[in-house]
Amino acid sequence: MKVVTTIADLRAELAAARSEGKTVGLVPTMGALHAGHASLVERSVAENDLTVVSIFLNPTQFNDQTDLEKYPRTLEADCALLEQVGAQLAFAPSVAEMYPKPDTRSFSYPPTDSVMEGAFRPGHFNGVCQIVSKLFAMVEPDRAYFGEKDFQQIAVIRRMVDDLGFGLTIVPCPVIREESGLARSSRNTLLTDAERATAANIYQALADSRALVGSHSVAEVHDYVVNRINAVPGLEVQYYSIVDGRTLADVATWQESDDIVGCITVYCGSQPIRLIDHIRYK
Ligand code: PAF
Repeated sequence: MKVVTTIADLRAELAAARSEGKTVGLVPTMGALHAGHASLVERSVAENDLTVVSIFLNPTQFNDQTDLEKYPRTLEADCALLEQVGAQLAFAPSVAEMYPKPDTRSFSYPPTDSVMEGAFRPGHFNGVCQIVSKLFAMVEPDRAYFGEKDFQQIAVIRRMVDDLGFGLTIVPCPVIREESGLARSSRNTLLTDAERATAANIYQALADSRALVGSHSVAEVHDYVVNRINAVPGLEVQYYSIVDGRTLADVATWQESDDIVGCITVYCGSQPIRLIDHIRYK
C-alpha cells in the first residue's frame, strides 16, 4: 500500500489509475482504525479497482477542544491494518495541507443537521461537510463508504451530495459490534475494561426495546430506554430520539413512518466518553 501526504501526490496516483480506466472507492476516516473501518475498506476493495483511505483527524468538526485532544492517534497501526485488508492507497495529509486557509464555507441542511448531534455539537456537521466535500473534490470517487454507526452523518452527507451535485454513490455499511453488542468506535479504546462492560448496556437496552413496539407507544419505548440506561451506574443518556429514518424528524406514533430509528448518545465513565448508537424499529 502506498501512503501519500500531499494533494499533488494523491492526484498523481489517481490520474494514473483513471488513465487505466480503474474505478475508485473512498473510505474517509479520522484514523484509530478498528474492525468497523476494516469492514468498509473490505467492501470498497470488493467493489472498486482502487481503494483510497483518507486518515485525517479533522479539527473543524470538533466543537470541543478536549475531545479533539483526547482522540486516539495511531497512524502506524492504521497503515498496518489497511495493508492487511487490501487498501491500495492511504492519504494522510497534515492540517495545513487540507486547510491552507481557514474554511469559511457554511453548510446548512435543517432539520437533518440541526437535530440530535447537530443540536448538542454545534458546528459539528458543518465541519464534516467541509472536509468530506474537499475529499470528494480531490478524489472524485465512484463510491464513498460510511459506517451506519454514524447514522445522522450519512443522512447529512447525502443532503450535501444532492446539494453540490457530486456524481458518486454513498454506500452505507452496517454497524460492526463487539461481542457484547457495543458498537465499535475509535472512542472505545478510551474506555477502561470495566467501562467497556458497562457500555454494553446501551445496545442491550436498545435491542430489548424492539420487543415493546406494538404493545407500547413511542413515548413509552423512549422512556424505557432512557430509564434503563440511566439506572446503570456510570452511564448517562444525553438524548434519545425516535425519528423518521429519512428526515430525522421525531415521530410520535409507530404509524407515522415505515422507516423508524432510535438514535442515542450516552456519556460513559468518569472522563466521560461520549458514545453513540442507534436501533432500527421499522
Ligand atoms: O466518520 C468520521 O470518521 C468522520 O466524521 C469523517 C467522515 C471521516 C469526516 O472527518
